[in-house]
Amino acid sequence: MNLAPIAVALDAPDLETAARWATLVTPHVSTVKVGLELYLRYGPDVVASVRGATGVQVFLDLKLHDIPATVAGAARAVSRLKPAYLTVHAVGGASMIRAAAEAAPNTKIAAVTVLTSLAEDDLTSIGLSGPALDAVRRLSALAVGAGAQALVCSPMEAAAVRAEVGPDVTLITPGVRPRGAATQDQARVATPEEALASGADLLVIGRPITAAPDPGAAAADIAAALRRTSGSV
Ligand code: C5P
Repeated sequence: MNLAPIAVALDAPDLETAARWATLVTPHVSTVKVGLELYLRYGPDVVASVRGATGVQVFLDLKLHDIPATVAGAARAVSRLKPAYLTVHAVGGASMIRAAAEAAPNTKIAAVTVLTSLAEDDLTSIGLSGPALDAVRRLSALAVGAGAQALVCSPMEAAAVRAEVGPDVTLITPGVRPRGAATQDQARVATPEEALASGADLLVIGRPITAAPDPGAAAADIAAALRRTSGSV
């Protein structure tokens, strides 16, 4: 059975919970995502804990942003953990992104373009004037030109980003909610099927799976729905 193109966000309060969620979902999904909170609390060991004995891909969402030499050092430091993906902020610039890509050649550097938490007023106040989508497209092209093999964007932006960067870049989209699920603090959401249809390759899904009474069953349900829409039951 093909694993679903889902990265389950392991936003857990403690390591035991994260490891338990990972054990439950890895039979169904390709990837688990470790974010800043878990990584800063438990350090690099968190990766081995969530990977366990499985071959699940690890998405290390550390959103690096610093001078190129520092980001290169950080990317080199985590590359020994063999993450499939490592995030950096595209606004760190081309040299920084290139430094990360060269320092971690076996990891896909995933560039975050514009945080979806920023409204257009916020963008203007930090000097990014104009429509957010223009900045997203510009930063996407810059990041890919500098060696990023993946981009993080909203499902609403995926089609425009795909048109900008072509077919070979992995598009990763958070803000995904199965139909009828609670949106929590996500303002603009798409269903898993809509996100894939708009060009996403890997869907970041957290609470609809991890807050379910049975995270394994929730992951299996979404995976089955995606297989039905892609016609490969
Ligand atoms: O629980 P939920 O599905 O909302 O989790 C989404 C995950 O994706 C969280 O780990 C969140 O930090 C991350 N994320 C996001 N929106 C972005 C970038 C990352 O929701 N623009």
